[in-house]
Amino acid sequence: MQHRREIRFLLNGREVSVADVGASQTLLDFLRLDRRLTGTKEGCAEGDCGACTVLVGRLGAEGLSYQPVNACIRFLASCDGCHVVTVEHLSGPDGRLHPVQQAMVEHHGSQCGFCTPGFVMSLYALWMETPQPSEKQVETALQGNLCRCTGYAPIIRAAVAVSEYGSPAADYLTTEREAITAQLRAMQDGARIVTGPEDNRAILPASVDDFAAALLEYPQATIVAGATDVGLWVTKFLKPIGPAIFIGHLDGLKEIEEGSDALTIGAGASYTDCEAAIGRHFPHLGPYWDRIAGWQVRNMGTVGGNIANGSPIGDTPPVLISLGAEVVLRKGDARRTLPLEAFFIDYGKQDRAAGEFVESIRVPMPAQGQRDAAYKISKRRDEDISSVAVGISVTLTGETITAARIAFGGMAATPKRAGEAEAALLGKTWGEAAFGAAAEALPRDFKPLSDWRASSDYRMLSAQNLLRRFYLEQGGAASPVQLTA
Ligand SMILES: Cc1cc2nc3c(=O)[nH]c(=O)nc-3n(C[C@H](O)[C@H](O)[C@H](O)COP(=O)(O)OP(=O)(O)OC[C@H]3O[C@@H](n4cnc5c(N)ncnc54)[C@H](O)[C@@H]3O)c2cc1C
Ligand code: FES
Ligand code: FES
Repeated sequence: MQHRREIRFLLNGREVSVADVGASQTLLDFLRLDRRLTGTKEGCAEGDCGACTVLVGRLGAEGLSYQPVNACIRFLASCDGCHVVTVEHLSGPDGRLHPVQQAMVEHHGSQCGFCTPGFVMSLYALWMETPQPSEKQVETALQGNLCRCTGYAPIIRAAVAVSEYGSPAADYLTTEREAITAQLRAMQDGARIVTGPEDNRAILPASVDDFAAALLEYPQATIVAGATDVGLWVTKFLKPIGPAIFIGHLDGLKEIEEGSDALTIGAGASYTDCEAAIGRHFPHLGPYWDRIAGWQVRNMGTVGGNIANGSPIGDTPPVLISLGAEVVLRKGDARRTLPLEAFFIDYGKQDRAAGEFVESIRVPMPAQGQRDAAYKISKRRDEDISSVAVGISVTLTGETITAARIAFGGMAATPKRAGEAEAALLGKTWGEAAFGAAAEALPRDFKPLSDWRASSDYRMLSAQNLLRRFYLEQGGAASPVQLTA
């Protein structure tokens, strides 16, 4: 197969070709240090503050689309074939402010200004997608942007007012859409990219089959999907990741199939990619999905990465296990399917052989009489990691509980089912007594750790109360109980 040694992309509308791109080189360092595009700031270097927000446009199954992402944890190699747009590209050649910038000025949305380019880029993406956003939509779009001095009210007022200063129809990314699409298409040559020095090699396979082959060639390689975990290994732990196989560009891994019996999510689908299908088939997961990270991270991070990293506090494993999900693993051309809970063997140990990768996740459609819920407890509502997360799925036949699947994150060394609590529900009549017994059984399932997120006692009490909450919310109480999120 043909190999290419350099990566090619558009930077603010101009074609850029960079040879010898090491696996660990970040987009932010390239922009600031190499190109002197210093409008994009470095605040936290871990995807939390949004000061580094840029837009990345890529050609997908539905054409060209732009999303805000964190340049600090986005690797440069993964930008091949994309259009990177920085804050420098917003104002016109005559220095006229962009409508988003003008709105921020008029509504006093900036004080020291350090966070402002990041806010402006997130609001730019929101305005392109939703020109007249509600305050709620603005808040969701800004989950991943932090401001230490202005306060959010003026920024939200600016966001709601952007369309008073201009229309997305007149924006460069709209008027030049066809030309940009043609430029990006012309860059696609179907080659595998192998670039960077030998000890920091970046490999971008040409297709999913080529990924399977490359992983057999480099079985110890770091797989990089959205890089929202791996990025931090580099920026925070200074860990070498080469050789690294980048998979975020593989459309074949992003497919989402809505079958009559199951929803199948390609391992490379981002949280944003699967949001609509998840909301359609598992509406209880809609609000939960919005509590995973912030917009930028949801645009990059994948469900496959959340599972493959094996973290005991990842948000998707508990809820997917409760729904009876299976994971499809692939090595070369061979595939095997496991119940998701069986994938997590122990802390840091998953049932994945060298050369094998997560290809997809299959989530069965809900059965008749199935009641589902998902809860996340964290210190902050937005952009925070769970102290405790749970997926609860209970099936009723008449008033009798005929199936129960309850899986917790944050309660053990792996995402884990609560077997004793499930047994306390099975065969019982739907009622307070059954859920009380399930809550009492939980200490036999888990001995949670104390750490900086929560104490062991707090975790256990929260977990027990979440079971009771499920019962109350599902119409269990004699008089309905109002619970806040
Ligand atoms: C600011 C911030 C907030 C966050 N908030 C949350 C949160 O609220 N909830 C939460 O659960 N997580 C959160 N995370 C963690 C992270 O976003 C998720 O774990 C995400 O799903 C990881 O996916 P990724 O594609 O970015 O994985 P990557 O970082 O690319 O990879 C993660 C791991 O999975 C492996 N991997 C990736 N894809 C595959 C594959 N197909 N086959 C085999 N191995 C693979 C990689 O080698 C690596 O070991 C947050 C991260 C950041 C930076
Ligand atoms: S620098 Fe804080 S999110 Fe990138
Ligand atoms: S204006 Fe100073 S951090 Fe936001």
